[in-house]
Amino acid sequence: MRILITGAGGQVGFEAARSLAGLGEILCADRVADPALGIAHALDLADAEALRAGVRALAPDVIVNAAAHTAVDAAEDEPELADALNHRAVVVLADVARERGALLLHYSTDYVFGGDGREPYREDHATAPKSVYGRSKLAGEQALAVSGCAFLLLRTAWVYAARGRNFLLTMLRAAAQRPELTVVDDQVGCPTTARFLADTTATLVRRWSQTDAAGRRALEGACHVAGAGQVSWCGFARAIMVQAHALGLLPQATPVRAIASSDYPAKAPRPAYSVLDTTRLRAVFGVTPPHWSQGLQQTLLELAEARRALSATGFEVRRC
Ligand SMILES: NC(=O)c1ccc[n+]([C@@H]2O[C@H](COP(=O)([O-])OP(=O)(O)OC[C@H]3O[C@@H](n4cnc5c(N)ncnc54)[C@H](OP(=O)(O)O)[C@@H]3O)[C@@H](O)[C@H]2O)c1
Repeated sequence: MRILITGAGGQVGFEAARSLAGLGEILCADRVADPALGIAHALDLADAEALRAGVRALAPDVIVNAAAHTAVDAAEDEPELADALNHRAVVVLADVARERGALLLHYSTDYVFGGDGREPYREDHATAPKSVYGRSKLAGEQALAVSGCAFLLLRTAWVYAARGRNFLLTMLRAAAQRPELTVVDDQVGCPTTARFLADTTATLVRRWSQTDAAGRRALEGACHVAGAGQVSWCGFARAIMVQAHALGLLPQATPVRAIASSDYPAKAPRPAYSVLDTTRLRAVFGVTPPHWSQGLQQTLLELAEARRALSATGFEVRRC
């Protein structure tokens, strides 16, 4: 199997390259090639025709599309670019996948929901995105659904890893610099590690490759993949402080004061409630998500291990 991963330098793409390694030949691509990161191919999702030609030339059997415009606030000022990456590029990838009879595995977001719910969202819950990012991701989902290609659509939420741009690393940096943090307490969701998402991706691709055409139809479509349980950003930040301090990543558990979203105006509105129901993931694919606090523990252990390895080389480590 030739497995193309777009956005291979991002949080999910990077982990996916590791998780999928045993399943076939991995072709890593990002906006620019980066041999130091193992990214051999340049594929710019903003350039539709170059993307089409590039993917055709790579001749994949599976496309894992981890590339996206993920800067939620910046997207408000660049809706064209968000639409190009999160919607129109998906149309191109789906076209090529259909031509080749390849599988397209694509990621979407809890931000396609409005956020006024009180029960975890199932895959068929009505969508009502509030932001440019959410609308562009929903347009990508809708394009995929009518594309005629074989696809798996993994909706996820609050993704973080030991590397990349994410809430965990932002909190650790801020905690090392400030005596107190203020974090919104009225948005609730499911923190999800990029590693769990990548491992689940590998499970689904393996299952797909071992299933006949009739069985594949039952696997197809949307599937929610997120950490179990739920927490507010403030609760998540507090857990980060306690666990990071216990592992020696912070000299103290920096206090976190709860604030309302209205006290922290952001350019893009966020859903207040964006908990994903993962019943389908468990029932159809046999994957049980770990509780979000377990994912946090694993990621912090990974950071602590990296710090120890770096210290052992004689470099002084000042910050996470
Ligand atoms: N992060 C979250 O909290 C979250 C939540 C729900 C869903 N998701 C979805 O999960 C998927 C993966 O997200 P992630 O957190 O791994 O995102 P990420 O870390 O921001 O990675 C996105 C990747 O896409 C690349 N990219 C950006 N513009 C590109 C272009 N024009 N052409 C080719 N590649 C381009 C980025 O490269 P550069 O770094 O060079 O820009 C980066 O490698 C996305 O579909 C996202 O919508 C994420």
